[in-house]
Amino acid sequence: MREELTFNLRGDYGASQREDMTVDFKWESFTPENHEMWRFLFGRIMPELKHRACKEYLDGIEALDFAGENGIPNYDRISDKLEKRTGWRLVTVPGLLPPEIFFAHLANRRFPVTTFIRTPEEIDYLQEPDIFHDMFGHVPMIAHPVFADYFHAFGEGGMKALKHGYLPYLETLYWFTIEFGLINTPEGRRIYGSGITSSMGESKFCLSPEATHIAYDIKRIMRQQYRIDVFQAQYFVIDSFEQLLESTAPDFIPYYKEVSAQEKVAVGDTLPSDTVLQLGVKAA
Ligand code: PHE
Ligand code: FE
Repeated sequence: MREELTFNLRGDYGASQREDMTVDFKWESFTPENHEMWRFLFGRIMPELKHRACKEYLDGIEALDFAGENGIPNYDRISDKLEKRTGWRLVTVPGLLPPEIFFAHLANRRFPVTTFIRTPEEIDYLQEPDIFHDMFGHVPMIAHPVFADYFHAFGEGGMKALKHGYLPYLETLYWFTIEFGLINTPEGRRIYGSGITSSMGESKFCLSPEATHIAYDIKRIMRQQYRIDVFQAQYFVIDSFEQLLESTAPDFIPYYKEVSAQEKVAVGDTLPSDTVLQLGVKAA
């Protein structure tokens, strides 16, 4: 998600003169060091994700042939493959985007990808999404038809929430599904959130007994507070991507009204009404 941050931004925000904030970018301008960084991150995390990420995510990695790219994937090649599968394309942007621009891209099945990759000093944490987060974390999921439709609907939902002054609630839902979502599968609980798949530390932590897992519930999620600079104190677990798509189809305005009259839930807290899930226990 594109949070409003004011310190040490890495992106070149003066680079775009366009209203949609896109920039012309040549993949050829990546340096050998940039590609080496990708190979390092990719090679380090793939073995961890083989048994932790959901099948849909791993299928996306395979369908787009990230391994065969052997470095930062070529944007045009990935974009063409993505378009054939789900009708999405990639566009290049300096980094974080204002919500109205970001959601408008999603609503048009365009996924904005940054043009910078972390340096060796920033290997495990940085404040803005870099290529490894955007491309490795998000793009494989967008190759899945149902998730791709969810993401598209989210763009339209974002514009609507913004117009009615309820954006923070939808941003929270974005955070706990697209960025930090977990899913129940026949093989056990798995990761689909891009904030987790692109993080070496969190991909292990989120499936450890220290993590709290709560059954997916939209209005409950909208009340949850969260931190963006540490591992999440709770994760919300869906049962399928169809559930995600169907549950977000209704008009959210009544949800927003209801939730805005309720108390927020502090980081790390659970409610008596929560369905707290045990690790390794499959959904009924
Ligand atoms: N259906 C929601 C609304 O009417 C929009 C939405 C769609 C939100 C998909 C999230 C995901 O506001
Ligand atoms: Fe993200």
